[in-house]
Amino acid sequence: MQIIAHRGASGSYPENTLLAIKQALLAKADGIEIDVFCVENQLVVIHDENVSRTTNGIGLLQDFTFNQLQQLDAGSGQQVPTLWQVLQLVNNQTLLNIELKGADTAEPLLELLKKAETELGTHPDKLLISSFNHHLLQHIKNHRSDLKTGALTASLPLDYAAFASQLGAWSVNCDKGFINKEMVQDAHQRGLKVWVYTVNDATTAKKMQQMGVDGIFCNYPLEARSW
Ligand code: G3P
Ligand code: MG
Repeated sequence: MQIIAHRGASGSYPENTLLAIKQALLAKADGIEIDVFCVENQLVVIHDENVSRTTNGIGLLQDFTFNQLQQLDAGSGQQVPTLWQVLQLVNNQTLLNIELKGADTAEPLLELLKKAETELGTHPDKLLISSFNHHLLQHIKNHRSDLKTGALTASLPLDYAAFASQLGAWSVNCDKGFINKEMVQDAHQRGLKVWVYTVNDATTAKKMQQMGVDGIFCNYPLEARSW
């Protein structure tokens, strides 16, 4: 079972920062997941549409300019990183799962990846683009069929992983509260990987392994090795 550092090594370092991502690389995580919004046409790495929980700022992300956002402390003196900075840092060392949060992120992502592939040598094989917004995933697939996508869900649909097949996804990324054996079996029959979020204890990790889950998102990638 693969271990994907959720928002970087976010259990021990400020989430979605370069510091948390560096620590996830040191922990030799099989993948690193980050969340992305678009601010003034720049893709930035942050989870909420409000900056208050994760930075020393207050208010909606959409009310900040990119420069104002750069002034905020995202914890331990870290800035809110850009996706470009993260691509530079990860540098194909492990799989980078870019979760699209903002509804306006698909086009900017396609543009940025084109540039990253040329200028940074970013390898498309080392990326997984995921979202709860399946329209964004369809848009990505329509323009870049070579990119792997992960269809996120926080439900247990009647027809299980059919929606992910329909999207041509590589994986179905499920909430641990809704996953069951039938879902895992259905996904596997469709040739999809099953990744489950967010698993932060040994008991749940073992349960997922027994169910045949392929990967878990975990805030503690280093500790998860021993689980
Ligand atoms: O991508 C898995 C997980 O990160 C989805 O939920 O809210 O933590 O972004 P959330
Ligand atoms: Mg996420």
